[in-house]
Amino acid sequence: MEEWRFAIQIAAFSGRGDPTPIAETEKPLPAAVKDNRDKLLERAMSRHQYSGDALIEVLHTAQELYGFLSPERLKTIARKLRLPPSRVLGVASFYHFFSLEPKGEHTMVVCLGTACYVAGALGLVEVLQRRCGAGSKVSVQTARCIGSCGLAPAVIADGKILARVTKASLGAELDRIG
Ligand code: FES
Repeated sequence: MEEWRFAIQIAAFSGRGDPTPIAETEKPLPAAVKDNRDKLLERAMSRHQYSGDALIEVLHTAQELYGFLSPERLKTIARKLRLPPSRVLGVASFYHFFSLEPKGEHTMVVCLGTACYVAGALGLVEVLQRRCGAGSKVSVQTARCIGSCGLAPAVIADGKILARVTKASLGAELDRIG
């Protein structure tokens, strides 16, 4: 079996999949592309009435949305769930499936939520599997819905949402980042 340097983590629609590390950058998104990830994380916390008991689930959601748990993100979660930051950091660093820093030089996250799946996201995963094998500096992951279904199929490339991605446009993006 071919070995890939990266692990594609399919976080299935059940919500019980592995957390999905994706890159987060400070790069601004194009004005036309709305990044709903903050809203989705807020919704996840709200769904649990901002209870500290939901910490692990909220961390899972944050990791899936942003790819890793930055110090700022952990602080925000601690504040919203009214938990000591040290406890949040302790939990995030204890479990191996949480990542406190981005993996790989570049990260591509393919949304496999329903809208993106129907729009052909699996084909994009195949392109990435083919192009980003061993030695690639691109880390590839998948995520559940990233809240931009109108842009399906959507891919987050180094923190920037790419809309209505085709195999060709994804290939061009891979060419661009080398
Ligand atoms: S299903 Fe992909 S953004 Fe919602």
